[in-house]
Amino acid sequence: MYRTHTCGDLRLADKTRTVTLAGWVQTIRKFGSITFVDLRDRYGITQLLFSENLNSNLEADPLGREFVIQATGNVYERSNKNPNLATGDIEIGITEFRILNRSMTPPFTIQDDTDGGDDIRMKYRYLDLRRHAVKKNLELRYAVNRSARNYLHQHDFIDIETPFLIKSTPEGARDFVVPSRMNPGQFYALPQSPQTFKQLLMVSGYDRYYQVVKCFRDEDLRADRQPEFTQLDCEMSFIEQEDILNMFEGLIKHIFKEVKGINYTDTVQRMTWEEAMWQYGNDKPDIRFNMRLCNLKKPGTVFVDRTDHYALINDAGFAVFDDAETVVAMAVPGCSEYTRKQTDELTEWVKRPQVGMKGLVYIKCNNDGTFKSSVDKFYPEVKLRAISAAAGAVPGDLVVILAGAEERTRKAISDLRMYMAERLGLRRPDEFKLLWVLDFPLFEYDEEGNRWVARHHPFTAPKPEHIEVMIGNDPVIRDSEKYLEHPYAGIKANAYDMVLNGNEVGGGSIRIHQKDLQEKMFAALGMDKEEQEHKFGFLLGAFEYGAPPHGGIAYGFDRLCAILGGSEIIRDFIAFPKNNSGRDVMLNAPSEIDGIQYEELQIKLDLKR
Ligand code: AMO
Repeated sequence: MYRTHTCGDLRLADKTRTVTLAGWVQTIRKFGSITFVDLRDRYGITQLLFSENLNSNLEADPLGREFVIQATGNVYERSNKNPNLATGDIEIGITEFRILNRSMTPPFTIQDDTDGGDDIRMKYRYLDLRRHAVKKNLELRYAVNRSARNYLHQHDFIDIETPFLIKSTPEGARDFVVPSRMNPGQFYALPQSPQTFKQLLMVSGYDRYYQVVKCFRDEDLRADRQPEFTQLDCEMSFIEQEDILNMFEGLIKHIFKEVKGINYTDTVQRMTWEEAMWQYGNDKPDIRFNMRLCNLKKPGTVFVDRTDHYALINDAGFAVFDDAETVVAMAVPGCSEYTRKQTDELTEWVKRPQVGMKGLVYIKCNNDGTFKSSVDKFYPEVKLRAISAAAGAVPGDLVVILAGAEERTRKAISDLRMYMAERLGLRRPDEFKLLWVLDFPLFEYDEEGNRWVARHHPFTAPKPEHIEVMIGNDPVIRDSEKYLEHPYAGIKANAYDMVLNGNEVGGGSIRIHQKDLQEKMFAALGMDKEEQEHKFGFLLGAFEYGAPPHGGIAYGFDRLCAILGGSEIIRDFIAFPKNNSGRDVMLNAPSEIDGIQYEELQIKLDLKR
């Protein structure tokens, strides 16, 4: 028997017991003739005490960091207890031990506060995974997985696996492709999601499906994106949007309760896509804090006219505002005393190429009731007061105003909102706020291709009242400048995203289940009959054999786990992640393949480098 207990088991109640532990040597400390060793395994750390009589053994064959050892001894009460360790009240007086395996000196310290940088930890990920900080993330991930499965099982969902070697599923990214040896010159695509399969399962009558499944997308990576990631993918038949929202609010609340011990009793807020963009400049707003936008210009065609505070900035001769498509203000709480240096810093921040603004206007709402602004010249105090009031500012706040082109300005103010909230400590990782964003546009205009693309995916149903608009209008955009005036710009989808603390954790839709409407949708995206048949003949075929009304959702499982773990970096919640260039630095993948493999695949490389 290798061990009687784990390194996390023993307590004062075990005093005097003879035990055997096995694990990794984390630290070795010598005090005169006595040696202390911290022994680590998955369950914890226990202090071992090697007294003088073992010195000759230790000298003959010294221990080193990360050696795997087995040690037997008696449990003693510690004189200097360690309250930070579950086993901190005891230590083991070792009577005999043996080295099970040796280790080279690890390239970084395997402790919570490691000295290893990102690259080295990824290269030696198997060592990094020994650290408690990473282990607790994987444990959380498993807890979320188990909890989700329990809930879905209780609600009659069935887990069905779908294939990885498939034909392209359009989710807006590029496909990863796999050549087929048996079909030379032909390729499989790895699924960007199991979307079409889960819809086929609905046609087959499995009316509640789920899967915890890998998805593959060749796209630019960020902290919340990996080229291969996991979805908790679900689909239901004979449902309406309301049924889906209820079922999956229930799922998340269940996970909150089981995994985090949080009783989430608040009603989950709902907001249309338009409202989200209008009030937050973002379709996944973090609603843990207020800081809503005050729109100072009449909207263009994207938004319904919401009659905001358009008159406040007019007739002042301030060209920056007068000439801008969009002018938005936001009250930042408690920052009226920002120095010139600090407001300059904010201006520089929005001028960075990633944000792309020309500048920033501010109004300080001083605590004494006066107002001071970078545009004092154009706006008398009474106007500054009115703009600040419209932005919801109170004395002590700093109102920031951005002006420019619609899309860029809205994105910039949204970025600034998140940046300021972060600086002010308003994005607390232990506070959770869910939000449904509804009624997304069905189409998105692709400027490069001068055509409409599906914003979610082409299987998403339009709002019933917009079906006629879709069918009755020619999708061709003759004047690409004026795409916002095209009837398609206003068509809304029966689609919904679940937002948690400013992150899109899930997205889904009610699907098209009628063959003719699906064909119309494909046609609207510029696919002729032949292309439709080539790409989606199987789905159109299935819709001819009794497809039930259906819809679903997929959660970004890595993202959900990261946020529940108080982080937005999904890599830390994946056992073997890729780096930002999509590489696995431990395996050194992707890599070249053997010449024989090209031959078998009948592929000749001709890289255009
Ligand atoms: P969607 O493309 O919105 O929908 O994806 C669902 C969720 O998956 C997560 N996600 C990602 N996570 C990590 N890395 C990525 N590269 C990545 N891309 C997406 C997000 C997102 O909300 N088939 C549809 C779902 C449906 O309609 O039912 C789909 O895949 O959290």
